[in-house]
Amino acid sequence: MKRFIVFEGIDASGKETQAKLLASFFINKGHKVLLTHEPIYDKPIGKIIRSNLEKKISLAPETIAMLYAADRYEHYLQIKKALSEEKIVISDRYKYSNMAYQGANGVNPEWIEEIEKYSKDPDLIFYIRVKPESAMKRRKEKDLYEENIDFQRKVFHIYEELSKKYNFITIDGEKSIDEIHKDIIKYLE
Ligand SMILES: Nc1ncnc2c1ncn2[C@@H]1O[C@H](COP(=O)(O)OP(=O)(O)OP(=O)(O)O)[C@@H](O)[C@H]1O
Ligand SMILES: [Mg+2]
Repeated sequence: MKRFIVFEGIDASGKETQAKLLASFFINKGHKVLLTHEPIYDKPIGKIIRSNLEKKISLAPETIAMLYAADRYEHYLQIKKALSEEKIVISDRYKYSNMAYQGANGVNPEWIEEIEKYSKDPDLIFYIRVKPESAMKRRKEKDLYEENIDFQRKVFHIYEELSKKYNFITIDGEKSIDEIHKDIIKYLE
């Protein structure tokens, strides 16, 4: 059984919504689940990333890429432990987010792949595919978004490339929350 599942997609595409629904689905079936997300903002490395997102500090995109990779490796160790305890792990974002976002900031995605290599690949990557214009309309106040639509478009285009390279399972994220959840379950069955 494939037990390490990741959700990827642009800002406000619906990753968290679908990750939670899928976690409930597995819990209702009697499985143990670790539902997690990245970065881990309350840990030391995540705190630096957060300060940069809030524009309190200004780090180079390459530095940020390395911080995400470091934060992720700590996260991966938690994931590995959960997998060894027979849990299903569902992660809202993973290393592909680093490639997409820092890639959009001009960092070479192949170099990011290299610095992320110790964080093992998941079994399944669901890519919630939503156009930047649609996702913009779904935004929540509290989240730390990059406002610029051109930046979101760049991220979208990189996700489109990554989806081929890493065999993402592309899910039509323009549908309703319920329809998307059903599509995901259909794929898993
Ligand atoms: N299919 C959908 N149709 C309409 N609205 C949606 C859909 N999926 C999620 N939403 C809404 O869009 C908003 C963003 O969803 P969510 O937080 O799940 O996205 P996310 O991908 O985790 O975003 P972020 O990149 O900010 O972490 C929420 O208010 C959510 O209720
Ligand atoms: Mg989210």
